Amino acid sequence: MPGRVRRRVLVTAGPTREHIDPVRYLTNESSGRMGFEIAAAAARRGDRVTLVAGPVGLPTPAGVVRVDVVSAREMLAACTRAFWRADALFMCAAVADWRPRRKRTAKWRKEEESKEFANIELRRNPDILATLARGKGERLVVGFALETGRGEARARSKLRRKGLDYIVLNTEHALGAEHNTVSILGRDGSVRRLSRRTKRAVAEVLVGLSRLAAERSG
Ligand code: CTP
Repeated sequence: MPGRVRRRVLVTAGPTREHIDPVRYLTNESSGRMGFEIAAAAARRGDRVTLVAGPVGLPTPAGVVRVDVVSAREMLAACTRAFWRADALFMCAAVADWRPRRKRTAKWRKEEESKEFANIELRRNPDILATLARGKGERLVVGFALETGRGEARARSKLRRKGLDYIVLNTEHALGAEHNTVSILGRDGSVRRLSRRTKRAVAEVLVGLSRLAAERSG
């Protein structure tokens, strides 16, 4: 792209892992594939991509700088470092909403608890997307929502509450699936439905959309 400034794109992907003790943790089913596809699609178009990834075994896409993290708080720290000079954020990661209130330094022994029951007290994790979006300025910020039932209204309220430009609505069928049906909701009230596309195809549309939005505003 001679003469064109390369955009800087920040992508997050995968689950976070919230440790209970050195060998046990809370996590979720996120495969990380959507975020890795977005990172790859942006790199193919010549963007400078930083991919902040939770614990997943996927290979790093060509041309992408990868930062591996484990917990939500580590992801927040890595994203805060990269966001200030990014032009766009795709927040695909399935960030754990809660973490154990304390991480035990030694293995949690069952003898420490009663015979039948045990409790893990949880504490809210920071909302990385909402935190970054508060200082977004001209940056384009895209969030993701996994909803069951009346998904669109909930996703739209998240878009407003977190101050996003777009939110990508997925259903639980997306988890681990080859094909995906998503709706991309814009802050301007727009809706684009993509039916039964590969994650790579969805990624291409999202990256294209974000470039269009940047060209319109720039
Ligand atoms: N997100 C985040 N930090 C969190 C939780 C979520 O950055 N602690 C981001 C996700 O990466 C995603 C979007 O926020 O882009 C999803 O928002 P939300 O639906 O609030 O997360 P859920 O955990 O799915 O919320 P809920 O269970 O309340 O529907």
